[in-house]
Amino acid sequence: MTKKKIIYSGIQPTGNLHIGNYLGAVKNWVALQNSGEYECHFCIVDYHSLTGNISAKDRHDQIIRTAAELLAAGIDPEKSVFYVQSHVPEHTELAWIFNTVTPIAELERMTQFKDKSQVQAKNINAGLFTYPVLQAADILLYHGTHVPVGVDQVQHVELTRDVARWFNKKYDKYFPETKALLTEIPKVMSLLEPVKKMSKSLGEGHVIELADEPEVVEKKLKKAVTATEGGDKAPGVENLLTLLEQFSAQGGSALGGGASDVYNKFKESQEDGSIRYGDLKSALSQEIANYFADFRTKRNELLEDHDKIAEILMSGAKKASKTAMETMEDVRKMVGIR
Ligand code: TRP
Repeated sequence: MTKKKIIYSGIQPTGNLHIGNYLGAVKNWVALQNSGEYECHFCIVDYHSLTGNISAKDRHDQIIRTAAELLAAGIDPEKSVFYVQSHVPEHTELAWIFNTVTPIAELERMTQFKDKSQVQAKNINAGLFTYPVLQAADILLYHGTHVPVGVDQVQHVELTRDVARWFNKKYDKYFPETKALLTEIPKVMSLLEPVKKMSKSLGEGHVIELADEPEVVEKKLKKAVTATEGGDKAPGVENLLTLLEQFSAQGGSALGGGASDVYNKFKESQEDGSIRYGDLKSALSQEIANYFADFRTKRNELLEDHDKIAEILMSGAKKASKTAMETMEDVRKMVGIR
């Protein structure tokens, strides 16, 4: 019997997903899940979110909203193990054990730690420092072999592989060597500062959320920066064209579909200099609104029914717990504490 590859990925509960999160992660998760080639685990990492600055109330709301949105976007709890990290406390237990095999110097190299320490200079807590160790525990608790993430997380996946090696060397050969699964993902930039990656922290007008109503998408795109300098190849124009390619009907290049007619038309007009940004923006508004029409309906339905969301998450946690408890039984024996 050939073993199924085990996919593991996590997302912080930041509230409403935006199109950068979607094209960068969620769309790919759904494709991997539906390919039937993997055993998939997708987790809302609320313990990780404790290292940041958000309030308890906001965190709670954001967990529910993130869950509803991932379900609406196509994560299927029948096909994938879909759950909230803190519902399976073994994550923290394994993280503690991993802390004891991880050299501080290795954590000091992590670029995300350095970046976040600048962003939240008044809150450089120990959890922020050991964040990647908890991430390694997430993955290895389920013997994850493949981790679909963006390039910014590759260093953490490499650390996960190192943690497994350190553990295996000190105790027993037990954990697999995890690999990052990098797919070609389009770079989605801010609407208002298209040299920066689209991110919520930049502010409302910079991002398009999956839940945005068509009028809101239209309004945000109207204000999007196009060719201030750099002419028709300016970053803002390139960004809108990338989005059009992704969201127009025959598009969906992450899944291998071809470019759509509407995309081709604007691309040609960019080449010959006849492109009109107003037309590009309204075409794009329409495509995005259509693309997420079903998503919006499903999301809003789910958010009316918190009990249903809770039920789905509880049953996901039950599935996850089964594996997590088995792993911890083994690990406790290996380290001599049981
Ligand atoms: N650190 C990841 C991020 O910031 C989130 C995450 C936590 C994760 N645990 C994980 C991603 C396990 C992949 C696998 O995006």
